[in-house]
Amino acid sequence: MMEFVLPDKAHDESRQGEALMLEQNDKNNGRKLYIESYGCAMNFSDSEIVASILMDKGFETTSDYRNADVVFINTCSIRENAEQRVRNRLREFGIAKVKNPGMVVGVLGCMAERLKSKFLEEEKLVDVVVGPDAYRDLPNLIDQVDDGQRAVNVLLSREETYADINPVRLNSNGINAFVSIMRGCDNMCSFCVVPFTRGRERSRDPQSIVKECTDLFNAGYREVTLLGQNVDSYKWSPSQTLPEGKGLNEESLPSGEVGGAFVNFAQLLEMVALIHPDLRIRFSTSHPKDITDEVLYTMKKHDNICKYIHLPVQSGNSRVLELMNRTYDREWYMNRVDAINRIMPECAISTDIIAGFCTETEEEHADTLSMMDYVKYDYAYMFMYSERPGTLAAKRYADDIPEAVKNRRLQEIVAKQREYSHYRLQGHVGKVHRVLIEGFSKKSDKDYCGRNDQNAMMVFPVDERFKPGQYVNVFAESCTTATLLGKIV
Ligand code: SAH
Ligand code: SF4
Ligand code: F3S
Repeated sequence: MMEFVLPDKAHDESRQGEALMLEQNDKNNGRKLYIESYGCAMNFSDSEIVASILMDKGFETTSDYRNADVVFINTCSIRENAEQRVRNRLREFGIAKVKNPGMVVGVLGCMAERLKSKFLEEEKLVDVVVGPDAYRDLPNLIDQVDDGQRAVNVLLSREETYADINPVRLNSNGINAFVSIMRGCDNMCSFCVVPFTRGRERSRDPQSIVKECTDLFNAGYREVTLLGQNVDSYKWSPSQTLPEGKGLNEESLPSGEVGGAFVNFAQLLEMVALIHPDLRIRFSTSHPKDITDEVLYTMKKHDNICKYIHLPVQSGNSRVLELMNRTYDREWYMNRVDAINRIMPECAISTDIIAGFCTETEEEHADTLSMMDYVKYDYAYMFMYSERPGTLAAKRYADDIPEAVKNRRLQEIVAKQREYSHYRLQGHVGKVHRVLIEGFSKKSDKDYCGRNDQNAMMVFPVDERFKPGQYVNVFAESCTTATLLGKIV
């Protein structure tokens, strides 16, 4: 049944809302927010949502925590050392708080979700603990702290995607931006804490994604990275509604999708690719069990979808992959790599690898090394296994590989990757690359830097005719261990 709201009632309510907002804005006007992010790109993207929510309430951002009124740390729980880093940083905020006792210190993100109110017991300087799905409640929680209480909200949601919030871009170069397309993860890899800290997987309304990317393009941005823990399981069904009841109706879908059962990741990629040929698209993370040929063909079809896939393997051994609950085996992974190479021979592939997972033998570790020989990854993020409380692995398997052995295996993996990264970079030497200028190089303002389609960083002398945000053709003359050196042609 439709619900009608009497016009004068609606009017009154909005007036009340307005008054409340003005009051809150007045109270917070000019209050300074400092926010620091750890962990994955999703956390950095969330911090932009947080800043947007608070700026709406009158806050300004600052880059110096020592004179901030509110200091937030957006945390990561993925490995023990990630949590340790946050704890150390909190000590430093504690020193600043002694000088500035009115300072509100808040812990956001995955550690907040994992530890909940325990955080308030363990870290006396912390005033607010807020999980990744509760950021809309922040103004209210800060009010509670202003009233002398400590506040916690770690409720996870099945719907929240912050779809309607237009993130403010923090520390931005005005050229690259992250855009969240989904939240949470339903995969339950046995080593991983993310399903517990981020909750159930949910996809964001494609129209809101296209709108955000279009706005970014119109504001001068030239590259968007679509983010999700498993982008290949992105799925939006037209019957889904936004939390505020603003659903996607069939008329608002682009033709072709009208009446279709749902929008999948390949279709979403295409919708974003069609915004403008000069808007480049990257995405992360692809899951080997879910990446489809349809996604690969969509990438091939559109020049502005970068030919680069981050495809975490974790281990090259099928028994270990099973213990990890990755739901693919060595052969399946190789088959996906073959498909990428067949459909887009120029496509770069990077990966994540865990060394020394529970019960991993030397032979099984050797399988990871031989997988690296098979794929010859362009880049890799490599870690020692770190047991996380509450995960399936922590419950089921002993963390039985001695630290020294884990470390040795990791060093072998790192050494091999160094060779392949160099090998791949050398493959780019002697060729011309289309590069998006991102700014001056870190070392010198006589050089520009930017990445090619395959995500390789290039450094080349400044040419006054071209500005950051423009595409240039750069000839790669040589390479260092991590960078291509060249000149604009
Ligand atoms: N969603 C992505 C990964 C997110 S976490 C995916 O499915 O691939 C990023 C990486 O951290 C993982 O790929 C894994 O390599 C690593 N990681 C996660 N949990 C870990 C743990 N307990 N110990 C060591 N590395 C871990
Ligand atoms: Fe963690 Fe696996 Fe989900 Fe990635 S896919 S976030 S590794 S549970
Ligand atoms: Fe870390 Fe949470 Fe991302 S645990 S890796 S910040 S999803």
